[in-house]
Amino acid sequence: MPEPSPFMRAALDAAEAVRGATSPNPWVGAVVVRDGEITGQGATSPPPGMHAEAAALAGGEAQGATLYCTLEPCAAFEGKRTPPCVDAIREAGVAKVVVALEDPDPRVSGRGIAALREAGVTVETGDGREEVSRSLRPYLKHRQTGTPYIIAKFAASLDGRTAANTGDSKWITGEAAREVVHRERARVDAILSGSGTVLADDPALTARPGGILPGRQPVRVIVDARGRVPADAQVFSGPGHVIVAAGEDAPDAWKQQITATGATVIDCERDGTGVNLQQLLPALARRGIMSAWVEAGSTLLGSLFDGGHVDELWAFLAPRIIGGRGAPAVGGEGVQRVADAHALREVVVEQVGNDILVRGYTGRWDNPGD
Ligand SMILES: NC(=O)c1ccc[n+]([C@@H]2O[C@H](COP(=O)([O-])OP(=O)(O)OC[C@H]3O[C@@H](n4cnc5c(N)ncnc54)[C@H](OP(=O)(O)O)[C@@H]3O)[C@@H](O)[C@H]2O)c1
Repeated sequence: MPEPSPFMRAALDAAEAVRGATSPNPWVGAVVVRDGEITGQGATSPPPGMHAEAAALAGGEAQGATLYCTLEPCAAFEGKRTPPCVDAIREAGVAKVVVALEDPDPRVSGRGIAALREAGVTVETGDGREEVSRSLRPYLKHRQTGTPYIIAKFAASLDGRTAANTGDSKWITGEAAREVVHRERARVDAILSGSGTVLADDPALTARPGGILPGRQPVRVIVDARGRVPADAQVFSGPGHVIVAAGEDAPDAWKQQITATGATVIDCERDGTGVNLQQLLPALARRGIMSAWVEAGSTLLGSLFDGGHVDELWAFLAPRIIGGRGAPAVGGEGVQRVADAHALREVVVEQVGNDILVRGYTGRWDNPGD
């Protein structure tokens, strides 16, 4: 994979710093370069805030400068909330724009670059394309398929168990692994879990990197087909919005209690496993959720793998054996033949404290940039 130029690397770093805080906009970074020096830098804010290019240009004089941006600058389209970046670039007198990746959003796709060229601005594309298309996987999948990018996480013993025979499940992995989980929760739009986990553990499911609870929290989404989660569960307190995906036939009185906590109840069709995920996932995407981090028991993880919904896996493995009939990390139907197993690509293995993290992509959604 060709390395991005140092200026595109700076734009990428600016983009990564706001990942998870820009929804439904993509996390984009931009830097202004004059006489070989970075004179302005910006990253996307969530609506109605500025786009990265405008934020970078607001930093100072850009006459004759080169602008590096991770994604194609936006052009005007009907219903647009922010002023088009191509106008800001033209008005600032930028001479050249270096773009890593063309925007797949059909309202922009190629039109931003064409508008810049028409205005006499030199445009170069491709610097850092591979790395940006990997970084923006959730955005690209969301725009291409209308469903969120799904990252499954589990913590298991070396023999793949998430609990002992008795149901005891705390804690399988150590503090360092739990800190990584909090950091990753803060980088997604939603955390998805099941009624089984809420009933068993009563988790808060908030992102608390470094032990700090930021006001901006990912949306917590609980699938609860039968209406079993109590309204006083911890998940309904704390900052951030909560969505409960319930069966249409779940009791109305329960739905009212959940709504009274400030949460939103979405009525969903049911299938053999609970809430119909095929219907729920696009509904979440329509609410601007581009990425969801799943922290659930074996039942929901099994349904997500069976349905081919999982794009990325983060498996934390503790160097210990639980044995017995404790719950496996992933349930569901599973595959019929080992050859059909969900195999990971671009596998990374890291030691986190005393635990091992194995992560990779399932390739269920084919990123054209991969
Ligand atoms: N080690 C880890 O990483 C980890 C993480 C989280 C939880 N856990 C452990 O997992 C255990 C709970 O496991 P679990 O399997 O009962 O919980 P779960 O997977 O979190 O929740 C399962 C429940 O979600 C509901 N659901 C709704 N739609 C569904 C669908 N399409 N597919 C699957 N489920 C759907 C079902 O109940 P309804 O039919 O009532 O809706 C189902 O019983 C706890 O002991 C907890 O400690 C471990």
